[in-house]
Amino acid sequence: MRVDELDTPVLTIDLDALEENLARYQRYYDEHQMALRPHIKTHKTLAIAHRQMAQGAIGLTCQKIGEAEVMVAGGLTVDILIPFNIIGKTKIDRLARLTRQTQITVAADSETTVRGLSEGAQAEGVTFGVIVEVEAGMNRTGVQTPAAAVELAQLIDKLPGLELRGFMAYPTPPASRPIIQETLHLFDKAGLAHPIVSGGGTRWAMEAHEIPELTEYRIGEYPTGGEGHLRAGRHTVEQCSLRVIATVISAPTPDRVILDAGSKTMSASTLQTPEGTSMGYIVEYPEARFYGASEEHGHVDVSACAVKPQIGERVQVLPVHPCPCVNEHDEMVAVRGGLVEAVWPILARGKIR
Ligand SMILES: Cc1ncc(COP(=O)(O)O)c(C=O)c1O
Repeated sequence: MRVDELDTPVLTIDLDALEENLARYQRYYDEHQMALRPHIKTHKTLAIAHRQMAQGAIGLTCQKIGEAEVMVAGGLTVDILIPFNIIGKTKIDRLARLTRQTQITVAADSETTVRGLSEGAQAEGVTFGVIVEVEAGMNRTGVQTPAAAVELAQLIDKLPGLELRGFMAYPTPPASRPIIQETLHLFDKAGLAHPIVSGGGTRWAMEAHEIPELTEYRIGEYPTGGEGHLRAGRHTVEQCSLRVIATVISAPTPDRVILDAGSKTMSASTLQTPEGTSMGYIVEYPEARFYGASEEHGHVDVSACAVKPQIGERVQVLPVHPCPCVNEHDEMVAVRGGLVEAVWPILARGKIR
């Protein structure tokens, strides 16, 4: 089947671009002798995770237990990091089941989390691998100082049913190196194990070598790119593999066209650009501005286009943020050279627990 025969709106992934992105980033980490642990929250798709492992990834990152369950059920019994505080018996029971099937490590930033994990591990007769999350500038989760990281690590080290495996931070721009160095120094001083020193974030993915203390790096968006990465120069248009194909369904004024792709196709994510708010980059009409959306309508300002898109015309749209866009879809169509090669179910979509 040809791509131009697909009904719209439809989420597609260009295999040539995908494969080139996977190879390019893996090459960087190989060159710098740092492990790559891709974050599957972006694509949520087994076929891509299998390709990442085949390229040389050390294992996977899954933000939620539900994502990890999908990966393991899909044959990825690999080393999985869940960089999330796991709270409550229901989740800890699921974590124990996963731990019996593959190597799992979770992150923690409080005594409450680690005591819960320890009790759950003892009740289930398993050992949970745990790393400490230390704050490195996002003001989200993470103990607030390297000294607090060591204190929590010491508790993990002595609690039954837990194995201390190191620490992580997110994101880790080069400027966060002093926090990583200080935490490492204090771990060493206290004689604590740190086989994992994990950093992450696509924005600084190619600067990871500036923190040589990291043993591994977690990135999610590098396989797909997106408008943000395009504008920042990290991906070219050709390297942005994830595209929504949409159809112009209305042209109510000379300056406005409406696409059949609104927030339920693109996600509600927006990007602030010098030209104003954007909800996607239209490949065929770079001067057009996808400035807003209702649920099923994409609102596009075409006043700057010398030639304007016509009703019935199909366009390719790069999402501003690939992760929530993928999460809106049941499947993505894998294409190469204008032909459909496969249809991949997005099995981890909606796995928020
Ligand atoms: C803990 C953690 N690690 C790694 C990543 C991957 O970052 P990016 O999406 O920039 O590749 C994320 C993204 O949200 C994250 O939350």
